[in-house]
Amino acid sequence: MTAFIAAHNLTHNKTSYQPSEEVLNELILAAGKAPSGGNNQPWRWHFENGLLHLFLEQSAAQAYLDPQNISSYISLGAAIENLLVTAAAHHLNVNWQLTPQLAPMHIAWFSFTENHQVDENEKQLADQINNRHTNRQVTPKQELDPTDLNHLHQLIEPIDGAKLRWLQDPEKIKGLAATSAHTDLLRMFIEEAHDDFINREMRWDLTQVTETEDGIGIHTLDLSNNDRIGLNLVKDKRTIDFLQQIEGGSAFKRLAMQQFMSSPVIGLITMPTSATASFIEAGRAAERLWLGATALNLQIHPVNVPLIFFYKNSIENKLNIPEKDKAILHQLENSFKETFELDKGEQAMFMFRLFKANPSPERTIRKSTAKIFSIGRP
Ligand SMILES: Cc1cc2nc3c(=O)[nH]c(=O)nc-3n(C[C@H](O)[C@H](O)[C@H](O)COP(=O)(O)O)c2cc1C
Repeated sequence: MTAFIAAHNLTHNKTSYQPSEEVLNELILAAGKAPSGGNNQPWRWHFENGLLHLFLEQSAAQAYLDPQNISSYISLGAAIENLLVTAAAHHLNVNWQLTPQLAPMHIAWFSFTENHQVDENEKQLADQINNRHTNRQVTPKQELDPTDLNHLHQLIEPIDGAKLRWLQDPEKIKGLAATSAHTDLLRMFIEEAHDDFINREMRWDLTQVTETEDGIGIHTLDLSNNDRIGLNLVKDKRTIDFLQQIEGGSAFKRLAMQQFMSSPVIGLITMPTSATASFIEAGRAAERLWLGATALNLQIHPVNVPLIFFYKNSIENKLNIPEKDKAILHQLENSFKETFELDKGEQAMFMFRLFKANPSPERTIRKSTAKIFSIGRP
């Protein structure tokens, strides 16, 4: 990292103020509590000569559902937002810049000065970092207060280009549920995707969770006993082959249906372009919204698998599936864009269910700060 920083002329100290190691650790701890696709925590921080650098941890990215690192970029954006609001709450001004020209290696740098006047919004968002979590529960549908939805809209306004779209029509939500069920099944039926899900993303017991300090523990998924048993069964590729033969998978369809139909609102964050920086900024918007929703006791469950399959099919064009299945995905993508009334070129980045429920009782694990942060000695 030090060599990379020197080679790209990122060495100059832009400020005379250096936060203490204790404060830096607090900032990194808060950043590390951000959400990430598959809980892959694709961040690596390094402080040197007054500049804090954010790198993409290449070994954490590269998942099947992380084409061209787009999911990791969203997660890095969320981590940046946590860092920014936590710095503000510590009365620090942050001067920072994304470095998309150096992606996928280097993502951004940050420097700090003192005497920031923290505002109410920053304080409120920073206060929710420890409470924010993914909630995948299915609970009886309760309508949401339009004032709350407006408030969430306002929270993402500072992010240039970010748009927030709501879907509340139950018929349209039902259509989306079918799309989501379709891509959940694709994920099981495509060998590479299945392998990634079973062996890379999921943690099947607590020993695995504590050994790796990443991934998604099955106990955190808010599943019913039956669904948990079902998920354990699909670990075996032979079950999948059998399901495929009998055109099965109705349990997946049922779960997606229940999750969508019990949600009063489906939200979508979009950006005007699919550039690297847009994904990062979308992640910032998603985190602001998520922290704000948490303050309002609203629950969020990202459902990004359909968006990633659309991206793999249309932009990356690398899906290893029969032509007829690609055509079906194109159709689903077109009706998705119509459903959300997207403008031409508008890129869907982060879709989520928004609903009322009790907080989920379980929390996902995080890597310790020592594993994701280093300080260079001059
Ligand atoms: C870009 C992104 C995409 C995600 N996609 C999904 C998804 O499709 N389905 C899902 O259940 N969770 C999804 N998540 C939630 C992550 O699994 C979750 O953030 C991670 O496991 C950490 O858990 P936490 O949010 O409770 O801290 C996504 C999160 C991010 C940041």
